[in-house]
Amino acid sequence: MGILFAGPQLEFEQIREAWFDAAAQLAAKGVFVGGHPVTAFEGAFARYSGTSHAAGVGNGTDALFLALKALGIGPGDEVVTAANTFVATAEAIHHTGATPVLADCDLGSYLIDPESLMEKLTPRTKAVIPVHLYGQMVDMSPWISLVRERGIAVVEDSAQAAGARLGGMPAGSIGNAGCFSFYPDKNLGALGDGGAIVTSDESLLSTVRKLRNHGGETRYTHDIPGYNSRLDALQALALSLKLERLDEWSAHRRRIAGLYERYLGEVDGIVLPAHRGDDSHVFHLYVVRLPVEARESARRYLQKKGILTAVQYPLPVHLLPAFRHLGYKAGDFPIAEFCSERILSLPMHIGMNEEAVLEVAEGLKGALASPAYRS
Ligand SMILES: Cc1ncc(COP(=O)(O)O)c(C=O)c1O
Repeated sequence: MGILFAGPQLEFEQIREAWFDAAAQLAAKGVFVGGHPVTAFEGAFARYSGTSHAAGVGNGTDALFLALKALGIGPGDEVVTAANTFVATAEAIHHTGATPVLADCDLGSYLIDPESLMEKLTPRTKAVIPVHLYGQMVDMSPWISLVRERGIAVVEDSAQAAGARLGGMPAGSIGNAGCFSFYPDKNLGALGDGGAIVTSDESLLSTVRKLRNHGGETRYTHDIPGYNSRLDALQALALSLKLERLDEWSAHRRRIAGLYERYLGEVDGIVLPAHRGDDSHVFHLYVVRLPVEARESARRYLQKKGILTAVQYPLPVHLLPAFRHLGYKAGDFPIAEFCSERILSLPMHIGMNEEAVLEVAEGLKGALASPAYRS
């Protein structure tokens, strides 16, 4: 049978009937883009996120790009973010015309290193994008007021952290804006692409609403040159139904993480992820670190047993061909580089149980003891 890596199909089973019924009603009315399902989801997601507003957009990359555009970021500006993020964070910065400036990460949590971040600020820095990587929120308290004093905006890349709360503050509610991806594998995933920007800044919201819809909030008003990046009604229906279950699903993910700790905690050669043990981690991914020479053989060994794993991400942004022009070189972000060669994401989803965790744990121990790796 094997063990899935992620389980969007399992989540769909929980909303199947309600979604099909609602989708059939909408289809009969001919409502496919925008309309009540989108505004209802935006209202519910803003309340959930502890912000005044949410604006649905086409995907998480657009959420970041449109938030930066709405903040007025463009050519000549610099935006600081983590070297170890999904490429989309850097792409969003790049496409505004601004320069992505990268910072290294912490060896335990993989989150952006506060000292490295502060070192990267220059008079040209217009925004910082902390990435709540793997579902764990960045603690912004050591630097957020220093950054704000310099007039620098904070945009939280919350793509992997829907449902996380740090000190009671939901992901996305601390910075000027929070950007979410509803890609199906995410903790709050649509049935296709989707994204949202949450904010309590009215003027930012108004600009985002224009930018996502050809420059106008209503049909055939075009105040600024905009884009087409809207959330589909059918996706909004699925997201509203899933949002009701998100806290329960996050609690389940935390229990699975606890079981991984129980069964892998004392195993030689496996480093488990550091976290605060509170609601600030929703374990979008459960990422362990293995000896560099063991990672690929362990992946193959597990795959033969039907246990699917992934590497998020094999290369930090500065070593990707797409960002060679930034002029970084190997060695510039030693922690991010060290981790990228050793990390392995284990199965994590709402269908996991203790038996499945044990199977993965035994598989991983077997992989580390196997001759393929030992030889
Ligand atoms: C950290 C991070 N930022 C941004 C994105 C982009 O989201 P999307 O794939 O919805 O464009 C993702 C999605 O994978 C992500 O993981």
